[in-house]
Amino acid sequence: MKNILVTGGLGFIGSHTVVSLQEAGFNPVILDNLSNTRETVLDGLEKLMGRRPVFFKGDVNDAGIYDRIVSETGEIAAVIHFAAFKAVGESVEQPLKYYHNNVQGLITLLTAMQKHGINNIVFSSSCTVYGEPDQIPVNEDSPIKPAASPYGATKQMGEIILRDCAWLNTQCLRYFNPIGAHPTGLIGELPLGVPSNLIPYLTQSVAGLRPALTVHGGDYSTTDGTCIRDYIHVCDLADAHVAALNRLLGKSQTSTFEVFNIGTGDGSSVLQVLNAFEAATGKKADYQIGPRRPGDVVAVWADATRAEKVLGWKAKRGLPEMLRDAWNWQTRQV
Ligand code: UD1
Repeated sequence: MKNILVTGGLGFIGSHTVVSLQEAGFNPVILDNLSNTRETVLDGLEKLMGRRPVFFKGDVNDAGIYDRIVSETGEIAAVIHFAAFKAVGESVEQPLKYYHNNVQGLITLLTAMQKHGINNIVFSSSCTVYGEPDQIPVNEDSPIKPAASPYGATKQMGEIILRDCAWLNTQCLRYFNPIGAHPTGLIGELPLGVPSNLIPYLTQSVAGLRPALTVHGGDYSTTDGTCIRDYIHVCDLADAHVAALNRLLGKSQTSTFEVFNIGTGDGSSVLQVLNAFEAATGKKADYQIGPRRPGDVVAVWADATRAEKVLGWKAKRGLPEMLRDAWNWQTRQV
């Protein structure tokens, strides 16, 4: 079984990808510093996988951790690099925290990969690199606009660094808005503190753990005045990583740096999501319309045809399933 190092493997997308990797016959090796998750995620993974995955508690910026991982697990065939901070607002307040973790962390990782002869990586990028798009849906050739936040800038820089590393084979996945949870409810999204993302805030609010949701802006130039995003089930996103990995390890790439949009191709407004949540779960979400949130783009959704043609990957799950699974996960939290 090939070892795949998964940085941030106890996070939301990372943990679901760990499950998909094992199902696809890989051995995931997790590196996580627990900065935005808990070690209890391992318990859910153990139940799902039938064994406790290999876990190293450590930071992507700790150069020494990679020597330990390689000496204890043996050859690493590829790295899937999730470990990064992702709160847009916080990145505006604490930019250096973001540049240190997301950019310096990537450089430390790549330096260690070069030292150990590991030349395959799947990188977590984001639709944030497109900024406010001129045309929707966006495809991979749409212009990269000035980043709206330091968080967005770190993803753009990450892509540039990876493109420049000609010794490296990169699958760069630009995620749209991952939501949902594993259908078993054994793993899901576990942000520490008050969630800044829509779905974890919504489910915590409906569960009575938070005040009513504030919709950030109701006067945008969209059909109902709220922002539009392309929400994608986290299990579909996890499967996209396996497809990218197979292309990487199958040496099928036509260039050292390949980029794919990973979304459903459908846009939903915030109010459409709230209505769909009620329809899918029977739970009513209390909300009020508040001011716009700085840094939000009005509308973005994916043209994901390249991923379908080249990776053979397509999202299978719709919004009702995403919201049902997110709520199922929430109800299991005490
Ligand atoms: C942003 C980034 C995305 C990044 C993600 C990680 C952009 C365009 N997108 O996603 O790349 O991966 O953060 O955190 O930079 N909303 C509310 N009330 C809330 C929370 C959110 O109305 O309490 C609205 C937002 O205004 C937005 C939508 O819900 O319209 C989704 O927001 P969120 O879940 O935070 O994700 P993005 O901001 O789209």
